[in-house]
Amino acid sequence: MSNVSSTRVAAIAVWALFAMFTFPGPAVAQDLADKPVTFSKDVAPIFQERCQECHHKGSIAPMSLVTYEETRPWAKSIRQRVIERQMPPWHIDKTVGIQKFKNDISLSDEQISTIVRWVDSGALAGNLKDMPAAKQWSDGNEWKGQKELGPPDLIVKSEPYTMPAKRQDLWWRPISNIPITEPRWLRAVEMRPGTLPGRKITHHAVTYLVQDDPDSLAPGTDPALNARAYLMEWAVGKGYDLHGPDAGKLLLPGSQISWDIHLHAVGEEIRDNVEIALWFYPKGQEPKHRTYLTGFQALRGFQTSKAAGGSRNVDIPPNSIASSDNYTVLQKAARLENFQPHMHLRGKAMTVEAILPDGIVQPISYVGRFNFNWMTNYIFDDNAAPVFPKGTVIHVTAVYDNTIANPNNPDPEQWVGFGDRTVDEMGHAWMNVTYLSDEEYNAWAANRKTQQTAAERR
Ligand code: HEC
Repeated sequence: MSNVSSTRVAAIAVWALFAMFTFPGPAVAQDLADKPVTFSKDVAPIFQERCQECHHKGSIAPMSLVTYEETRPWAKSIRQRVIERQMPPWHIDKTVGIQKFKNDISLSDEQISTIVRWVDSGALAGNLKDMPAAKQWSDGNEWKGQKELGPPDLIVKSEPYTMPAKRQDLWWRPISNIPITEPRWLRAVEMRPGTLPGRKITHHAVTYLVQDDPDSLAPGTDPALNARAYLMEWAVGKGYDLHGPDAGKLLLPGSQISWDIHLHAVGEEIRDNVEIALWFYPKGQEPKHRTYLTGFQALRGFQTSKAAGGSRNVDIPPNSIASSDNYTVLQKAARLENFQPHMHLRGKAMTVEAILPDGIVQPISYVGRFNFNWMTNYIFDDNAAPVFPKGTVIHVTAVYDNTIANPNNPDPEQWVGFGDRTVDEMGHAWMNVTYLSDEEYNAWAANRKTQQTAAERR
């Protein structure tokens, strides 16, 4: 249990408790009497805005929440999922760290309160005339980034693989060419299994960029680690990566994608590929910075090569809660673009905080209700993305729940350690890092100070 930090567990427990009390409480009941809440008038508009994208026929969710008849049987389950902020799948704590995102799909407290009042007052249909006009959904397989970015410029597919009904987890590693004839800067990327059935067997997929270009590795990367440049990481439930306004990844002609696709058998034979959508900056528009996808470890030993004694420690006894943490020093000033926690079935919570060179600890993000089905990517708003000076330490803590209270836990009697299989554990925070020069950092800090002073005067 070398990695367990008890103060950290305590701090997280306090956060979790605090979060419990931020659920809509007494206010819910107050105006119940004078305002009947109905599906047609009050609830359907919220579901259109926040649920139906996934909850319509043919999309990824198990049931449609479009008509009253389809929705009514789920009322109780809906109440619970929205109160616990499990649905929509946006599990980041609303009281800790950065709160402005480019892709926020969460419900407001008021929307939750409306849904709860609707269920508690009998889940009434109301007057059909009050229903908002039905929304048209595309084939259900539109790229998530499409709403914000339009259709992708290029889609590259991996070679497909046939996963038998029964077998151990496996890693499928084909290579694809990227058909470009001139250098292009990437603005956004999204990955996903090619088909809906494919989602069942695809645990995650990592893509590496294979090109002769030392600059595609982050500054300060230890050559002994034989690191490869990440293009993107996808795991169950993840959306897209969207880079900051002046940042991107450079693709060179002749470059290839090396896939690392983790498949697990689900009792039926499924053949599928994984595909990646690429959105480019317009030709001639070169972003000033490269951005580097980085897995900030919550396990010790990853930053040192195995030869130098690096090991990957996580130790989770049966029927217990455990945690692991680790520190990464930023070699240059940097802006963090997003946060996506990655853990396996025992994953419970993840904290990311920055320890500034002067010792001040600044919380970045806390996901207190991690759910293995949803590796949601929280993309910070341009104005909210945190910027840190060189030498800042990023501290990531992962908490694992190997008890029966964790609904995703296949067997709380098992000891769990590090490994790549879904039943093994790991913990890291995926973040796109855009490095800045010290001058750029100083200019940013001076600008922020002016803004803060102006805000204080107001
Ligand atoms: C990004 C896609 C997505 C969005 C948005 C979304 N859901 Fe879901 N929902 C799913 C998927 C997939 C599942 C099944 C997996 C799971 O339970 O996590 C699910 C499961 C559920 C369940 C549990 C069903 C059961 O088997 O008991 C409920 C209830 C639910 N969603 C309600 C909602 C409501 C209400 C909203 C909007 C306020 C919403 N969801 C938004 C994708 C989504």
